[in-house]
Amino acid sequence: MTDHAVPADRFRYDSFTQAVHWLTLIAVAGVFVSGQIMDDMARGPARTQMIGLHVSVGLLVLVMTVLRLARRVAAPQPEPIPGSPLVQMAARAMHLTLYILLVLVPVVGMAMVWAKGRSVGVFGLFTLPPLIAPDRELADRLGDMHEIGATLIVILAGVHALAAIVHHAVLKDGAIARMLPLGAARRG
Ligand code: HEM
Ligand code: HEM
Repeated sequence: MTDHAVPADRFRYDSFTQAVHWLTLIAVAGVFVSGQIMDDMARGPARTQMIGLHVSVGLLVLVMTVLRLARRVAAPQPEPIPGSPLVQMAARAMHLTLYILLVLVPVVGMAMVWAKGRSVGVFGLFTLPPLIAPDRELADRLGDMHEIGATLIVILAGVHALAAIVHHAVLKDGAIARMLPLGAARRG
C-alpha cells in the first residue's frame, strides 16, 4: 500500500497529545533541576520559594498526565509504527512505565509534604487540604521513593528519547514527526 492510501493523521498524535507531551518534557526538566538545586540550598525564604515552585510545577505534571491519559482512553490512537512485535511491546511497556511514574512521583511528593506536616500550595493561589497526618518516618521513606522515582523518569525518558532518535535517523520511519505538528509522519 502506498502512503497516500491512508490519511497521514492516522499516523500522527492529535495536537492536544503533542502539546502535552512537549510541555511535560519541559516541566519534568524544570522540576528535576529545581529538585536538585533545592537539595543544596540553605534553609531560608529563597529555598521556600524554590520548593513552592517545584511543588506547583510538579502538580502541573500530574494534572497534564491525568488529562492526557483521559484523552488517550477517549480518542482513537494513531496506528503503531510497523516493526517486530517484541519492539512494539517494549515501546508500549516503556510508555506505560512512564505514565505510571508521571502519576506516582507527584503523588508521592504531595504525600511527603503532608507527612512532613507542611501544606501543599499551588502557585500561591490555594492550598490543598492535607490527606495524611504528620509522620516523620513516613516522610523520610516517601522522600526516598520520590527521589528514586524522579531519577527513574529521567533515565527512562532518556532511553525513550534515544529510541525515538534511532527511529528517526536510522530507521527513517518518521517516528518523531508523529509527535510534531509538521513533517512527514508515515507508516515507514
Ligand atoms: C514529576 C514531578 C516531580 C519530579 C520529577 C520531582 C523531582 C524531585 C527531585 C529530583 C527532588 C530532589 C530529591 C533529592 O535529591 O533529595 C525533589 C525533591 C522534592 N520534591 Fe519533587 N518532584 C516532582 C513533583 C513534586 C510534587 C508534586 C511535590 C509536592 C507536592 C514535590 C515535593 C518535593 C519536595 C518537598 C522535595 C524536597 C525534599 C527534601 O529534600 O526535603 N515534588 N523532587
Ligand atoms: C520527560 C520526557 C518525556 C516523557 C515523560 C515522554 C513520555 C512519552 C509517552 C508516555 C509517550 C506515549 C504516548 C502514547 O502513545 O500514549 C511518548 C511518545 C513519544 N515520545 Fe516521548 N517522552 C519524553 C521525551 C521525549 C523526547 C525527548 C522525545 C524525542 C527526542 C520523545 C519522542 C516521542 C515520540 C516520537 C513519541 C511517539 C511514539 C510513537 O509514535 O509511538 N519523547 N512519550
